[in-house]
Amino acid sequence: MFPLLEVESLRVRYDGLFGPVAAADGVSFRVEEGETYALVGESGCGKTATALAILRLVEPGRIEGGRVVFDGRDLLRIPEREMRRVRGAEIGMVFQEAAAALNPVLKVGTQVGESLRIHRGLSRRAAMDEAVRLLRLVALPDPDRHARAYPHELSGGMMQRVMLAIALSCSPRLLIADEPTTALDVTIQAQILSLLRRLKRKMGLTVLAITHDLGVVAENADRVGVMYAGRLVEEAPVADLFRDPRHPYTQGLLRSIPGASPPRAGAGGARPRLPTLAGAVPDPASVPPGCRFHPRCPRAFEPCPRIEPPAVEVGPGRRVACFLEGAATAAGEGRS
Ligand SMILES: Nc1ncnc2c1ncn2[C@@H]1O[C@H](COP(=O)(O)OP(=O)(O)O)[C@@H](O)[C@H]1O
Ligand SMILES: [Mg+2]
Repeated sequence: MFPLLEVESLRVRYDGLFGPVAAADGVSFRVEEGETYALVGESGCGKTATALAILRLVEPGRIEGGRVVFDGRDLLRIPEREMRRVRGAEIGMVFQEAAAALNPVLKVGTQVGESLRIHRGLSRRAAMDEAVRLLRLVALPDPDRHARAYPHELSGGMMQRVMLAIALSCSPRLLIADEPTTALDVTIQAQILSLLRRLKRKMGLTVLAITHDLGVVAENADRVGVMYAGRLVEEAPVADLFRDPRHPYTQGLLRSIPGASPPRAGAGGARPRLPTLAGAVPDPASVPPGCRFHPRCPRAFEPCPRIEPPAVEVGPGRRVACFLEGAATAAGEGRS
């Protein structure tokens, strides 16, 4: 498969109230052409910072290192002028706060048509027609009327559809959706997600989906990267992750989904059941030494507070950054 996007050792820093905050601290993953890759983790672990860095929109923060290779070009090293074209025409983004991202004094259709006027040189009239077509594509009810409405006249779910129409307006190859359904009620969430699935098939999109909710991931992603405190701690095809989560953090996250089944026992003996994930994500201004998860980890042992575990490959397409993997291999309790 061909990686459309390769994020490598990405570091994003913000100046927090109590000193510098490494929001992303060496994040690496690849998104293959045509797949949906989900970035998952609790609030504050650096998902949005990672997404914004891909588009070079982290201000007032700084991108301190790494590479973001999109379709063969390192986006961190191209001129701003070229980057503007990437943002408008090659990568579409649905931001976390739909309501805040829309301009309250411009009609919905004008906003959907805006980048078509800029990037494709469409007339005002043609852009409005195209906006209505896009609003129909994202299944906004009564698109002709709503194109002439202002954002405050729309519900949260409708605004999210408008954001999606804007993100899709220049037929991007990659769509980044940052918590596209978090603010919505469950029924609307399901509708938006199934819409995304349909659009993906229809338009041949590649999707980077960001969420704090592993439950959302199961039906909507091909592969999953689990983030914790600015790092990727586990990566796996979605079915593998649900069947056999390896990192204790992933295990805890899975257990906190209502109705999720417990992880299968490993071949080397029953995996102990973990209590629901206790504690909170560490303050990024003072990340614990060693494994960042060790203070919350029910299985932490000797090296964990001292040494940061490297990510190791534990199967086809599977990476885990946890010393339990090394320990399991060394003790010869290999799993299939
Ligand atoms: N504008 C900002 N100024 C200071 N700190 C920020 C800013 N944006 C994000 N951060 C910090 O970076 C960390 C990661 O934030 P974010 O990427 O938004 O997490 P997530 O999207 O996973 O919830 C958080 O600790 C947050 O406080
Ligand atoms: Mg976020």
